[in-house]
Amino acid sequence: MFTPKPIGFVKSPYNSPSEVPKGLGAKHTAEGILSISLEFELGLTDVEGFSHLIVLWEFDRSPDFELLGTPPSDNRPHGVFATRSPRRPNPIGLTVVELIRREGSELHVRGVDMLNGTPILDIKPYLSSIPENRLRRGWLAEAEKRQAGQPS
Ligand SMILES: C[S@@+](CC[C@H](N)C(=O)[O-])C[C@H]1O[C@@H](n2cnc3c(N)ncnc32)[C@H](O)[C@@H]1O
Repeated sequence: MFTPKPIGFVKSPYNSPSEVPKGLGAKHTAEGILSISLEFELGLTDVEGFSHLIVLWEFDRSPDFELLGTPPSDNRPHGVFATRSPRRPNPIGLTVVELIRREGSELHVRGVDMLNGTPILDIKPYLSSIPENRLRRGWLAEAEKRQAGQPS
């Protein structure tokens, strides 16, 4: 296995996990900056053409992983691989952000849910190819129905 090396760090308004919006219907509209190390800046060539980017990053402030946990969006436990829990065997986070503009090695983005100083592992253009009518939302759809008072 390779040893991950950050390509940069996130500048985010969030300094503690409690500041990040959580639970059903939480909106991620916060702006932040993906500050890429100068040695990798050339790799940002042509990134401006994409409206959204996938950011892979490290949960560098997570305690040990748990295989079963109750997420803030439900009152029932689910397996870690059926959730976006920060407590994972390999502590890798994935966030889709909207690219506002690029300034050299800094990408100004909207939609961050990472803490300030989070190490960035990779960036890729977001290209959605799955039609909405083919997507199933698993336990999350059931939790949403329960909260709305509908039978699940
Ligand atoms: C539910 S996770 C989802 C993260 C990402 N969108 C994903 O799906 O992998 C988001 C939570 O991770 C936590 N978090 C953000 N940055 C972190 C970091 N660097 N280390 C540990 N936890 C972090 C915050 O508490 C935030 O509410």
